[in-house]
Amino acid sequence: MNPEDKNCWDQYLEKIIHRRGGYSWTRFFRTFRQLLYNDSTVAIEMAKYLIHQKQGNTVFHCLTLLGMATKYVSLISSKPLDLFSDNATQDQENQLETATLEAFLLTHSLEIKDVIKRRQNSFTSSRRFILSQLIMSHYFARINLSANILDIGTSIGILPMQLNNAIFYDLYINDLTWQNANTAFLTIPINRIYGLDYQVLPDIQWIASCHASSDYYQTRLCELLVDYQVCQRIHTSFEVDSLNIVDSNALASYMRSRSINAVVCNFVLYQYKTDIRNRILECIFDNITSSGIFLNVEPTSNIEDVGCHVKIYVASERRFYAFAKISNSHFMGELTPGIDYEDYMVKYF
Ligand SMILES: C[S@@+](CC[C@H](N)C(=O)[O-])C[C@H]1O[C@@H](n2cnc3c(N)ncnc32)[C@H](O)[C@@H]1O
Repeated sequence: MNPEDKNCWDQYLEKIIHRRGGYSWTRFFRTFRQLLYNDSTVAIEMAKYLIHQKQGNTVFHCLTLLGMATKYVSLISSKPLDLFSDNATQDQENQLETATLEAFLLTHSLEIKDVIKRRQNSFTSSRRFILSQLIMSHYFARINLSANILDIGTSIGILPMQLNNAIFYDLYINDLTWQNANTAFLTIPINRIYGLDYQVLPDIQWIASCHASSDYYQTRLCELLVDYQVCQRIHTSFEVDSLNIVDSNALASYMRSRSINAVVCNFVLYQYKTDIRNRILECIFDNITSSGIFLNVEPTSNIEDVGCHVKIYVASERRFYAFAKISNSHFMGELTPGIDYEDYMVKYF
């Protein structure tokens, strides 16, 4: 994409505004779009920086990151912006918001760029582990081995902390409608658990900035923070490391030296363009042990859909199963079987 092309930005922003309608990022993106429309120097420079700095990322992820980075800097500044709430605004107020955002970008441009450079969207959820729990517990019971688990893009590491916790599991499993499956808790025979994330490991302040301010998302954030605190008191043993998974050599040697036979990668790869995404997938396929399993969940590409697709890679078959679609990314919805669902369930569940 040519970062100078205003029409192109406009098309992406139009879509993201539409998609983010229920996520309360709308006012920020509308205002940023207005700044580009007004030929604001600082907005154009920020758009160029995004495309240059995040070359392997999709334009949607670049824009999402801009919103989150601006929110992050706003939250720690002495004058936080009021742009990230759901409040409807009148035209007059819109003009005021445009001027306010432009002034904010001018004052904080270096800090915002620094956040963009060192981070990716780290939005996470305390409910996503339930699927990994079910899939991996049944798989390892079938093959009768213990698991060396790697959670790629672990964010604050909530999934590694929650695995094998029956209390959290029972709290959330009934919100996922999964017809005709035995969803009773089963322990995974875990040997070691590892988590990986980007340059600066995500912290609570960053996670809060990645959440929209609507009631729905603030409720999910509270849930996450409570579970995180509980997990920290339980002291589960796992290791979190900073590694850029786009660096195939680094990822390969990390996986091989730890004999990783279970990989979880939830809501990470969609941030990248197809060639990079495929390179990361190939690296995981090539470096997981021959008895391994890889669970990959990504949001659906349909911009209006809040659901996600579940794929499962079985290393012994070198095969990716199109397992299911889930109607909600916090797994508070319905699981619909994919084309390979029956085949997978018969063999590994
Ligand atoms: C949207 S969050 C998903 C977090 C968690 N997996 C979940 O589903 O709740 C994506 C995470 O992947 C991490 N990530 C993105 N690109 C990465 C990279 N190149 N190397 C390591 N981690 C990366 C981000 O920093 C972020 O914490």
